[in-house]
Amino acid sequence: MIDVLVVGAGFGRDFVPLYALHPEVLRVGLVEPDAQRRAAVSAELGVDAAYSSLDEALAAGDWDAVHLLSPVRFHVEQTLQVLASGRSCASAVPMATTLDDIARVIDAASSSAGRYMMMETALYQREYLHALHLRETGALGRLTYLSGAHMQDLDGFASYWMGYAPMEYATHIVAPLLGIAGVTARSARCLGSGTLRASHRGANGNPFPLESALFTLSAPEPLVVQVTVSFFENARSYTEGFNVYGERAALEWPSAEGGPVVIHTAGPADGAGPGRPVARAELAPPDRHGTMPEALRPHTRPHVYRPPGGRPAVELQAWHGGSHPHLVHEFVSSVTDGRLPEIDARRAAGVTAPGIVAHLSALRGGAELMIPQY
Ligand SMILES: NC(=O)c1ccc[n+]([C@@H]2O[C@H](COP(=O)([O-])OP(=O)(O)OC[C@H]3O[C@@H](n4cnc5c(N)ncnc54)[C@H](O)[C@@H]3O)[C@@H](O)[C@H]2O)c1
Repeated sequence: MIDVLVVGAGFGRDFVPLYALHPEVLRVGLVEPDAQRRAAVSAELGVDAAYSSLDEALAAGDWDAVHLLSPVRFHVEQTLQVLASGRSCASAVPMATTLDDIARVIDAASSSAGRYMMMETALYQREYLHALHLRETGALGRLTYLSGAHMQDLDGFASYWMGYAPMEYATHIVAPLLGIAGVTARSARCLGSGTLRASHRGANGNPFPLESALFTLSAPEPLVVQVTVSFFENARSYTEGFNVYGERAALEWPSAEGGPVVIHTAGPADGAGPGRPVARAELAPPDRHGTMPEALRPHTRPHVYRPPGGRPAVELQAWHGGSHPHLVHEFVSSVTDGRLPEIDARRAAGVTAPGIVAHLSALRGGAELMIPQY
């Protein structure tokens, strides 16, 4: 049994109940500097160990594992701090926003007694697990083209998102596409689109509301992977999805998040007309629970959580394709089993670096830049 500390009570609020329900987790603590938010979330979810800073929580001497859901600019230093203390560390995406910081996290993970995992929701959402199933069973045939887009309007978000370089947050698309292809990205060519309005600019100098990258892969045959991310000045409702095209079948992301995916299946040419006949079907991808404990399974869908101490029940959503309980189980079981998690530091680096390099390419007008291999 392990004790888990959740850091950041924004997105982190969704994870406290999942750790509390995991049969291998004894206690769940919370770090949140905002006193009002800390008090509200602790009272709502029945957290009895709450701290105003990570320093304070680690100094208390408890906690075997830490899940960071603090703002992006804290991820690297907090990861290094947790790993240096010998504890295991899960980090919300992205792992880092520079290649140097990726290298620092890899070094820290390889010399720590603890485990490192990047909590990439896109690698456990039911749509991805279904696409992987189609790939592994041969239903897609030879891959032809992979594409995806993360589009979200960050107007009104915390000031640290202003001017955020889109490709420095590309893991939600890069990770599933590379996962389906089963390879790494070798080089990036990327263009920025538009010019950020002054009101959306931030300190880091990114001038683009949208970036779109083409990656070459370490695949035996050429295969085009296109990734687009936009955060501002684009009238598209939230989407975080991908399309996979193969010789036999294709899977396309729903135009409305949470809707059915579209599967296209090509039959043999039947002579009735030019081209092969292609059937189109809509499909609600199933949940694939794998080894997930019973107590977590209902939480791949919206479900009610009953906090300890007879507190009122809490309605929990299951954002990101039901991925959250999968992430919790993978992180906890990697710690209790003493093995590397599926998204360890090297795999995390392999899906984070392509976006970082792509943004550098966009700043250089689309020059092809090589991506480090981990
Ligand atoms: N699909 C996904 O994987 C996904 C989705 C949403 C957010 N995220 C990531 O999760 C993280 C948190 O997102 P969010 O939307 O909750 O952000 P947020 O800015 O709304 O909240 C972060 C929380 O962390 C607290 N905080 C600030 N500084 C801190 C520090 N030094 N130590 C600990 N806590 C601190 C803030 O008070 C706030 O409550 C971000 O890194 C974001 O990129 C990932």
